[in-house]
Amino acid sequence: MKIAFANPAIAKSGTVCVGVMSGHKLTASAKALDKVIKGAISRAVKVGRFEGKMGQSITLPAPAGSNLDTVIVIGMGEPKKITSLMLQDLGGRIFASVSKTGSKAVSICVDDLKGCKISAVDCAAEMALGARLRSYRFVKYITVKDKDFDPTLKTLTFNLDGSAKARSAFVSKDKIADGVFFTRDLVSEPANILYPEVLAAEAKKLTKLGVKVEVLDVKQLTKLGMGALLGVAQGSIRPARVVVMRWNGTKKKSGKGKDGPIAFIGKGVTFDTGGISIKPAGGMEDMKWDMGGSGVVIGLMKALAGRKAKVDAVGIVGLVENMPGSNAQRPGDIVTSMSGQTIEVLNTDAEGRLVLADILHYCNERFKPRMMIDLATLTGAILVALGDEKAGLFSNNDDLAKSIYRAGENVAEHVWRMPLGEEYNKMLKSDVADMKNISGGRGAGSVTAAQFLQRFVGDTPWAHLDIAGMTWSKKDKPTAPKGGTGYGVRMLDRLVADKYEK
Ligand code: BES
Ligand code: MN
Ligand code: ZN
Repeated sequence: MKIAFANPAIAKSGTVCVGVMSGHKLTASAKALDKVIKGAISRAVKVGRFEGKMGQSITLPAPAGSNLDTVIVIGMGEPKKITSLMLQDLGGRIFASVSKTGSKAVSICVDDLKGCKISAVDCAAEMALGARLRSYRFVKYITVKDKDFDPTLKTLTFNLDGSAKARSAFVSKDKIADGVFFTRDLVSEPANILYPEVLAAEAKKLTKLGVKVEVLDVKQLTKLGMGALLGVAQGSIRPARVVVMRWNGTKKKSGKGKDGPIAFIGKGVTFDTGGISIKPAGGMEDMKWDMGGSGVVIGLMKALAGRKAKVDAVGIVGLVENMPGSNAQRPGDIVTSMSGQTIEVLNTDAEGRLVLADILHYCNERFKPRMMIDLATLTGAILVALGDEKAGLFSNNDDLAKSIYRAGENVAEHVWRMPLGEEYNKMLKSDVADMKNISGGRGAGSVTAAQFLQRFVGDTPWAHLDIAGMTWSKKDKPTAPKGGTGYGVRMLDRLVADKYEK
């Protein structure tokens, strides 16, 4: 689908959408179209329960007086209450309702509304973002298609005063959507196709956008001493990889600590069988998206580079497959992490933290970042706590935690802060090594996992996002069809824009 911006006009064919505000108040373009189609809109808005509330709509097929396929009257609610998130959802909903109707062209008339805090230019750009995000499809493996399979919609045009400005306001949003789509693609691929080497090759494609991409192989990881990460990988014939991506948007040499780059770290378990502590069969297919954290980091780097963010950012992903092969690590094995700390692996299914332990330490040592945020589909327990509404946020830094929360609220990717503390930390005490990889007790599984990670971040400001409930959605959302959500890309892009870009 092409998204276009054009001057105010009422299309002569295809589908036209116009807005009506609360109390049946027609927008300027609704009034203009109403004249052409002989008062059909002003009559229709008074039929039934339509009040012009946000989310309501009326469809008028083949209205007399025009060659239009359809007119859609969209409720906008009270202009002063309209937010950019509402507009993104609206754009997504309009896309979903028109994409398969048969119309090739759909035009949305956007007006400056009195009392609305958002200009028509920004309204159009936000709706365009919502529509684009909703238009994602992962259909490359479907070869047998019925006649209604493909969308008919070819061009979605926003008609407004200041269309050139709307087009340029959309440019960076479109780049962010490119990042989200990349993440969704990676998360959707099955594990027979996408394994560590393949995911590394996908990350390498960011080179074209000016990202420096290094791929570390098993020999290099062994030399670095990443015993925790390699222990997870050793049960699979697919060799591990660690990918380091660097975006130098300031064009200056980055320093260390406060002057260091910002860093994003992702869990990339391309399939998690649980290893020798094997998972039950039911639902195990979900574990193809256990590389979701790495998918977000790669998609985020694409978004930052795509919109040429003025920031120095490092992305590091640890890529392994957790399999119960004949060389797999066993419960009770003791591994030595790159940090030197030893870990008793009591459950091979608590593998994400083992992977992250080494790359968090590596990132901290090599880059001395200003802050680090890791993302991981780390625990089933976070789903018990927060469901699929919010990700779990853990942090050793209140300011960072607040900024992440705010960025999330701004883009409707919600997080909820969870606790850390010595009382949880001590649950990881082992009798035979520096720590064990699961706690003895039954409760607080997401907290003890985060506590484990904290042992590898030193004093660097750090946040951990447990996204196990957010990476995949079983139902359609206004701006994301069911499947891989790309959750996290927009939040972290926003965090970068609001807090770290100068
Ligand atoms: N990848 C899983 C967590 C997960 C579960 C993600 C469900 C998405 C949906 C992780 O590696 C895991 O297996 N965690 C265990 C930890 C336990 C063994 C301490 C879990 O949550 O059961
Ligand atoms: Mn696991
Ligand atoms: Zn896992």
